[in-house]
Amino acid sequence: MCKKQSQKVSHLGSKSFEIRVFRREDLDRVMEINVTCLPENYSTYFYLDLFARFPKTFLVAVADNSVQGYIMCRIERTFSKLKSLHLAKLCHIVSIAVVHPYRRRGLATDLVFQALKNAAEEYEATECFLEVRVSNDPAINLYSKLGFRSTRRMSGYYMNGEDAWEMAKPLIEEGQTIPGVA
Ligand code: ACO
Ligand code: ZN
Repeated sequence: MCKKQSQKVSHLGSKSFEIRVFRREDLDRVMEINVTCLPENYSTYFYLDLFARFPKTFLVAVADNSVQGYIMCRIERTFSKLKSLHLAKLCHIVSIAVVHPYRRRGLATDLVFQALKNAAEEYEATECFLEVRVSNDPAINLYSKLGFRSTRRMSGYYMNGEDAWEMAKPLIEEGQTIPGVA
């Protein structure tokens, strides 16, 4: 079955943005955003490998004719973060960032929403999880607003010794796919 490509236009007052799947030519810009916004940086190979394996959950947000944010995920078959001793297909949000001038306009919300929708529909993921610095209030607020809850505190998870919250959210309830926003 051919599913419609994930595209969405959101209106931001006079401005607008579009969520679309990553393309090879976006790589330099995505790497630039990552280095600007986060201390966790990756090799070219890392990005292209994730894109090759899970292209439907590697998305970018485009505004003013340029990529201003991205999300990339890995689909993993592992133990559920929400149900003990339950094997499941999980969507792991590896990294998400939005450049400063475009923050607080809903770009990250739509990137997560669309990635979770694609993870459930294209890869049959039933749950989503991620790690986030315990000091990262903007990201923790974003995930909480989208229905994630903290599932464990991971001591010294980051290179500088900071702890992480693991946060998770179900994508399926009673056999029904639930939308990205709870
Ligand atoms: N302070 C408090 N809450 C915030 C903030 C902030 N600065 N930014 C976002 N939020 C919360 C709010 O609840 C907001 O809703 P509201 O605007 O209606 O109040 C909600 O998140 C949604 O905000 P968006 O506009 O969708 O988020 P944005 O596009 O600004 O991107 C992001 C949020 C990705 C966290 C951005 O601040 C960023 O790039 N930060 C640096 C990189 C980063 O920390 N990435 C996450 C690391 S964890 C990981 O990658 C798995
Ligand atoms: Zn992770």
